[in-house]
Amino acid sequence: MTQPAAAPQKTILRALSGEVQAVPPVWMMRQAGRYLPEYRATRAKAGDFLSLCYTPDLAAEVTLQPIRRYGFDAAILFADILLIGQALGADLWFAEGEGPRMSTVTDLAGVQALKPAEAVHEVLAPVYETVRILSRALPRETTLIGFAGAPWTVATYMVAGRGTKDQGPAHAFIARDRAGFAALIAVIEAATVEYLSAQVQAGAEVIKLFDSWAGSLKGQDFDDFALAPARRIIAALKARHPGLPIIAFPREARDRYVGFARATGADCVALDNSVSADWAAAHVQVDGCVQGNLAPHHMVDGGPALASETRRIVQAFRKGPHIFNLGHGITPDADPDNVQRMIDAIRGQ
Ligand code: CP3
Repeated sequence: MTQPAAAPQKTILRALSGEVQAVPPVWMMRQAGRYLPEYRATRAKAGDFLSLCYTPDLAAEVTLQPIRRYGFDAAILFADILLIGQALGADLWFAEGEGPRMSTVTDLAGVQALKPAEAVHEVLAPVYETVRILSRALPRETTLIGFAGAPWTVATYMVAGRGTKDQGPAHAFIARDRAGFAALIAVIEAATVEYLSAQVQAGAEVIKLFDSWAGSLKGQDFDDFALAPARRIIAALKARHPGLPIIAFPREARDRYVGFARATGADCVALDNSVSADWAAAHVQVDGCVQGNLAPHHMVDGGPALASETRRIVQAFRKGPHIFNLGHGITPDADPDNVQRMIDAIRGQ
């Protein structure tokens, strides 16, 4: 038998190009993380979380761990959405057990003190090196996903200096000085295009834009600070890298998921677990590939609901392009065996 001239196209890339597959490809948000003992060991070796992000050999190692253990169809670069804030000149640190802390940007003068977009490469260069290592080390069937936070979500941390329940400080900035806040979005947006473009040059095959707090934007604010920046970033990236597939995740956007792919040019919309799969199949998947939707608590709870919910989601999305994923990141208290049970349910074993 003659060998095919080209490697079979990767399952994730096929889904992103609109192909319907009998068995959807699968990966998981936060698949490299604290629920895995091998992650905790490498994290201990690195010392702290940011050192892990900025040490290419170790960041590549933790990216590969879930691929070795489970054979996911995609690997996601190990880094964090907040590194770009640091690259723009903000202080960033992770308070053990408490999450991220940043110096704050609360007015136009603060925005103007940030570094220009082209300056971000200096701090982010180790991330590009991680991508280069991964593009050599990954199995040929595994797709490498690069990512960044969407400007609104990154801005919520840069304004508040920490994670917040309702993104109150960022909303207050909008109310106080809408133009000043728009300037902050513009700075992050330009930096994000530079950052993601460099990831693609280093070997990322797909880009994902995480807008974790999109759900707290309503009406015109959603249009101006979630939808429009995503549309401009996607257009700029596709102009520089024709054919680059892009996944957008406007988490908890509810009815604003409808038409989001069409309005932004995204090839796939990632869904949280607050929307029903049947609704999303009818209203979101009509425009192209969807990803996500399984509630992360199933990875903690296991039991019969894990397999039945997994199969229900596969069934709901079976008529269109679909990448199986969770509705948000897997949590540190998840049982690694439940991840295998999910994969077995998807692949029908
Ligand atoms: O998905 C992956 O496996 C890739 C790596 C990745 C991380 N963070 C690693 C991480 C990605 C894509 C992110 C994105 C990210 N980071 C988001 C958007 C997605 C989402 O979850 O909504 C956000 C909002 C952040 C900011 C952030 N980073 C927070 C709020 C925290 C603390 C919360 C927590 O889980 O501890 C982090 C830390 C972080 N980023 C960890 C990991 C594995 C845990 C850090 C540790 O090892 O101690």
